[in-house]
Amino acid sequence: MLGNFTYSNPTKLYFGDKALENLKTELNNYGQNIMLVYGGGSIKKNGIYQQVIYILKECNKTVFEDPGVMPNPTVEKLYEGCKIAKDNNVDLILAVGGGSVCDYSKAVSVSAYCEEDPWDKYYLRMEDVSNKIIPVGCVLTMVGTGSEMNGGSVITNHQSKLKIGHVFGDNVFPKFSILNPTFTFTLPKYQMVAGFYDIMSHILEQYFSGDDDNTSDYIMEGLLKSLIHSSKIAVENPQDYEARSNIMWIATWALNTLVAKGKTTDWMVHMIGQSVGAYTDATHGMTLAAVSIPYYKHIMPYGLNKFKRYAINVWNVNPQNKTDEEIALEGLNEMENYMKEIGLVMNLKDLNVTEDMLDGITDGTFIMEGGYKILNHEEIVEILKESMR
Ligand code: NZQ
Ligand code: ZN
Repeated sequence: MLGNFTYSNPTKLYFGDKALENLKTELNNYGQNIMLVYGGGSIKKNGIYQQVIYILKECNKTVFEDPGVMPNPTVEKLYEGCKIAKDNNVDLILAVGGGSVCDYSKAVSVSAYCEEDPWDKYYLRMEDVSNKIIPVGCVLTMVGTGSEMNGGSVITNHQSKLKIGHVFGDNVFPKFSILNPTFTFTLPKYQMVAGFYDIMSHILEQYFSGDDDNTSDYIMEGLLKSLIHSSKIAVENPQDYEARSNIMWIATWALNTLVAKGKTTDWMVHMIGQSVGAYTDATHGMTLAAVSIPYYKHIMPYGLNKFKRYAINVWNVNPQNKTDEEIALEGLNEMENYMKEIGLVMNLKDLNVTEDMLDGITDGTFIMEGGYKILNHEEIVEILKESMR
């Protein structure tokens, strides 16, 4: 175990098929004006919107709606949301949706009273918040990002072709999140499995780093095994409550800051995937899936012990009479087979990436230094090319 750290997570979670009942109690903690943020309309089709509105009315709240948050929310939409929040003096932003809706709500919460351009301040200059923050609460409808219990907020700027995440401190974490696994039942399969892989990637980004003996690595192996098990069941039967509820809980723990404590972390799959997203607007989890195997094959020699451990502990590879490289590679092959089995996108061409984009995607990739290998420009281009074969 490395380093000194502080651990605190202020988000209160309500979990289970009756979790929404707690919204009323939470709403009593906030003022009159509620900004209701949601996406392109799925919550109206599946009835979650109607349930939430009913509770807001019961509590006699004044509701200001901000619909139309797109997957990969844009900076233009953020400016719109800031105006609604400020003009109406909102007391709580209630996010009802997936990671995009939750991320966007956090962005509005720190930006509404920001006197500078929030894109410049938070996303380009990565500065901390120095103004009033509007509290956020979430009702989660799509599982994957962990946004329900973290300070992450990813915004896309199509003009400058940049997709950037700011990880805010715990003053920006949602005050509460309502996690009802049945709310995720209506997700199309493509979104569902993209979310599953987002979870896996969050865990692997934090697992593939360091060579110390660290409790977090053991926790992550457990989370990965449970995810692999439950995701196979959910793909067969999306209405399997046990599987979907396990996955919802894994997603939250995969990225609520716990498993990153006391260790270094990698995040290069996300950095490459986000840059792919800035060029293509593709579904987040699929951008990660398409580049992961080429990336891990590339860094495997630099973190061989960990890749061997991953193969044995997570993918049950039998190590007998095999070299370390053979064991590690077998683990990655098992992972690749699993990814294909659940229906992930394994090639960047399927996300509309073309050869002429590769240099730009590479330039837009932030290089992190916590993994087994600090990548250079040529290596990123090589990984992207591999992801197109
Ligand atoms: O917009 P609607 O109509 O609601 O449809 C959404 C959207 O099209 C649909 N959907 C959500 N719940 C549904 C549903 N459809 C039917 N039934 C339901 N119950 O799913 C589509 C995708 O939703 P979105 O919120 O975009 O997905 P996700 O949760 O994957 O969020 C992606 C965003 O989160 C960021 C990503 O970069 C991306 O911008 N991330 C945030 C992170 C964080 N806060 O820590 C970390 C992640 O690594 C990630 O970068
Ligand atoms: Zn992610």
